[in-house]
Amino acid sequence: MRTVRLDKDKHDRNHFDCGVEALNNYLRLMANQQSSKDNTRTFVLEDSNQTERIIGYYTLTMTPVDLTALPAKLQKKHHNAQSGGLIARLAVDKCHAKQGYGEFLLIDALQNLLIASEIVAFPLIVVDAKDGAIQFYEKFGFTTFNDTPNKLFITVADVRSNLEPRT
Ligand SMILES: CC(C)(COP(=O)(O)OP(=O)(O)OC[C@H]1O[C@@H](n2cnc3c(N)ncnc32)[C@H](O)[C@@H]1OP(=O)(O)O)[C@@H](O)C(=O)NCCC(=O)NCCS
Repeated sequence: MRTVRLDKDKHDRNHFDCGVEALNNYLRLMANQQSSKDNTRTFVLEDSNQTERIIGYYTLTMTPVDLTALPAKLQKKHHNAQSGGLIARLAVDKCHAKQGYGEFLLIDALQNLLIASEIVAFPLIVVDAKDGAIQFYEKFGFTTFNDTPNKLFITVADVRSNLEPRT
C-alpha cells in the first residue's frame, strides 16, 4: 500500500464519505486548490480495485508553534523554534473504517513529515484532532497541548526513534 498526491483528474472526490462533512468538503472543494497554491499537500490512499476511489486521505502543511503551551523541558529545548509540521486533516471513508487504514495513513503522514524535517528542520509535529479523535492520536504517542485539548503534538525526535524508515 502506498499513498499518492491527490489528482483531481483521477480521484473521485465526491464519493468519499468519512462521516464528517467538513472533512468531506475539504477534500472535495479545497484540497486541490490549496495544493496548487502551495499552501497544503494532500495525499490519498487509493482503493486497489478501483484506483479512482479514495480509501482515506491526509493533508500536510506547517503551523506556528506556541512554545508556552509545551511542557517546560520542551520549551527550553526548542526556545528558538517557531514552526512545526501539521497534520491538518486525516480521514478514512466510513466503508473502510476500523481496518487499520487510519493507522497506516498516520504513519505515512509521519514518515513524510520526517523526510521533510531532514531538509527544513522543525522539532514538532502537530495535529488538529476533531471530536472523538483525540484518543486515536494519543494511542500513537501524541500529547495534548496544555491550553488546547484538541491540538496534540509529538516530537520529531520521538517519531525518528520509533518509526521504521520508509522503504
Ligand atoms: C479517526 C479515523 C481516522 C480512524 O480511522 P480507522 O481506519 O477507523 O482506524 P484504524 O482502524 O486504523 O484504527 C487504529 C487504532 O486506533 C483506534 N481508533 C480508531 N478510531 C479511534 C477513535 N476515534 N478514538 C480512539 N481510538 C480509535 C482503533 O481501535 C485501533 O486500535 P487497535 O489497533 O488497538 O484496534 C477515522 O475514524 C475517521 O476518519 N474519522 C472521521 C474523521 C476524523 O475524526 N479524523 C481525525 C481528525 S482530523
